[in-house]
Amino acid sequence: MAKLCVNVDHVATVREARKTVEPDPIAAAVLAEQAGALGITIHLREDRRHIQERDLRIMKEIVKTKLNLEMAATRDMMDIAIDVKPNQVTLVPEKRQELTTEGGLNIISQENYLKEVVRELKKANITVSLFIDSDLDQIKSAKKTGADCVEINTGKYSEAKGERESDAEFQKVDAAVRFASRLKFTVHAGHGLTYRNVKRVADLEEISELNIGHNIIARAILVGMERAVKEMLSIINQGYFL
Ligand code: PXP
Repeated sequence: MAKLCVNVDHVATVREARKTVEPDPIAAAVLAEQAGALGITIHLREDRRHIQERDLRIMKEIVKTKLNLEMAATRDMMDIAIDVKPNQVTLVPEKRQELTTEGGLNIISQENYLKEVVRELKKANITVSLFIDSDLDQIKSAKKTGADCVEINTGKYSEAKGERESDAEFQKVDAAVRFASRLKFTVHAGHGLTYRNVKRVADLEEISELNIGHNIIARAILVGMERAVKEMLSIINQGYFL
């Protein structure tokens, strides 16, 4: 059964809209764990548009399950990660202008550099995951970096228009997940997943972790954080709402 890691970035997005202290992503993380989330994910972006270093440092103290830090593979971010030591780092590509992470890492073009990044993070006892598109060559290259896990990007599956496109994108995710599992990666998946499209992905037995943010926070604004997380868990596990 896939673990649900709740990404609370967008609680911080609302806070940063006014540069004030509320709502606090720390409170959201506590409520998500109370509702059954088995991990909390945050993305500390270079431009600090939502999560701040303060959030990361407090999360490290209060998260009782697993803290997954998404970050770019830059020297500055590595120094922060090695200092704070989240349980897991997920390396993602980052562009300033993007609204959210737009695709997986190009590992092939920076394999040697990423090998060094992975080595340093693992030396600090941090599990390393690479966010990657459903591309078998990229997954092969990921293996050579020494990373522990890959997170298969479900963005295209989530954005697919109509059943046909959705089926085609799902097949790519499925093939990538199975290939990564054969290479002995711990396999995660995420990006763009919703209450409507998550079940198919959650049912892939090789997937051990799902990272879901925007859709849970969007729902939480209307129904509350604990209910939103419980409803997502209910769909992942049973296929229907509580
Ligand atoms: N996985 C990765 C690597 C991401 O960058 C994000 C977005 O921060 C997510 C999962 C969660 O995506 P969403 O907010 O669309 O659920």
